[in-house]
Amino acid sequence: KQTGYTALDYGFVNTAATRSDITYIDGESGILRYRGYPIDQLAENASFLEVAWLLIYGDLPTEDELADFDERIRRHTLLHEDLKRFFSALPSGAHPMAVLSSATSALSTFYEGKTDPDNPEHVETNIIRLLAKLPVIAAYAHKTSIGQAFLYPDNSLGYVENFLRLNFGVMSEPYEIDPVMARALERLLILHEDHEQNASTSTVRLVGSTGADQFASVSAGIHALSGPLHGGANEAVLQMLGQIRESGESVQRFVERVKNKEDGVKLMGFGHRVYKNYDPRAKIVKQSADEVLDQLGVNDPLLDLAKELEEIALNDEYFQSRNLYPNVDFYTGVIYKAMGFPTRVFTVLFAIGRLPGWLAQWREQNLDNKSKIGRPQQLYTGEPERRYPA
Ligand code: CMC
Repeated sequence: KQTGYTALDYGFVNTAATRSDITYIDGESGILRYRGYPIDQLAENASFLEVAWLLIYGDLPTEDELADFDERIRRHTLLHEDLKRFFSALPSGAHPMAVLSSATSALSTFYEGKTDPDNPEHVETNIIRLLAKLPVIAAYAHKTSIGQAFLYPDNSLGYVENFLRLNFGVMSEPYEIDPVMARALERLLILHEDHEQNASTSTVRLVGSTGADQFASVSAGIHALSGPLHGGANEAVLQMLGQIRESGESVQRFVERVKNKEDGVKLMGFGHRVYKNYDPRAKIVKQSADEVLDQLGVNDPLLDLAKELEEIALNDEYFQSRNLYPNVDFYTGVIYKAMGFPTRVFTVLFAIGRLPGWLAQWREQNLDNKSKIGRPQQLYTGEPERRYPA
């Protein structure tokens, strides 16, 4: 006999766990809006921090609000030297996503007594701390993975420029920012800023619902994002393209293997729980892929391979009947690669992009007096009562 059981809903396909004012998606029509603003308009015209403010506080910032927000973030970029030692305690080949989530969790130990979810001053300061320090941790995770020394943040630089320098600068030489690359990366990060109740955001909310602080919640969100069905797909797409190219297998044959579900092989970067039409983010990324590679002077045959794969899949009954279209991860990897990021850093970039959304959703839940601890039901399918042999 089940008690308290309502409905079985694997993967929460039909269950809303919250109300939210932040992001609107119409998956049938391929629409995505942050606080009412269409994603294409924001990606084209806004800055990353402007969109972060919009997501967190509900309206576009005034000039003064944005300047103050930017300034406060710049003042919080330094990591405690003790935290920097954390990186050298991990194997140099450690995956940057594991380093990022662990270091985010470790970050909270520097703010004991300053992370109370019921203290608005703590909450607001930790939004600034996380926005300021996570890109630095991410860049150090990248540097650790390639065995290079860390640079101190340069707070005269903007958010994205600083991040690029921390990733690609080296101690001995001045780093020249490429404005084309900086703007291209900023646009990609804006596209990732929020996506309503996806797996990592739901994780952030679930952890936050227990009264856990922003550091614990964001760290858990990073773990959830790392999986290949979620943010880890951008890394998996590049691996898939690389394997097809190296094996010499035809794209058509690869697609046949996907359709036959041979060895569980999937077309990574395709399909989405919510979009049953072209992912509006993927549309923008695809448009900019050619442009960015061209501007960066990169000619990557993997981009042509990705296009061929897309073309074949979109004209195939298997993908059409299941409404499978490219998602945001299908073309981003090719651009990140052209920028010089190693494949293993791609999902870290997704995390830096998604951070404002996680913070906005955590804060919205924290301020919602209707929110309760998240606690799904189950349908028990095990043994009935048994007697332990006396
Ligand atoms: N390749 C081949 N078949 C697929 C794919 C794919 N990428 N995606 C879904 N299908 C098939 C699936 O096998 C199923 O077929 P059938 O009805 O014969 O069993 C049908 O389409 C429905 O798929 P589903 O698995 O029930 O759909 P879902 O909503 O549970 O999963 C998904 C969504 C994104 C996990 C899935 O499409 C997938 O695994 N895609 C590849 C991984 C990927 O690109 N993830 C990034 C998502 S977007 C970025 C983000 O927000 O994280």
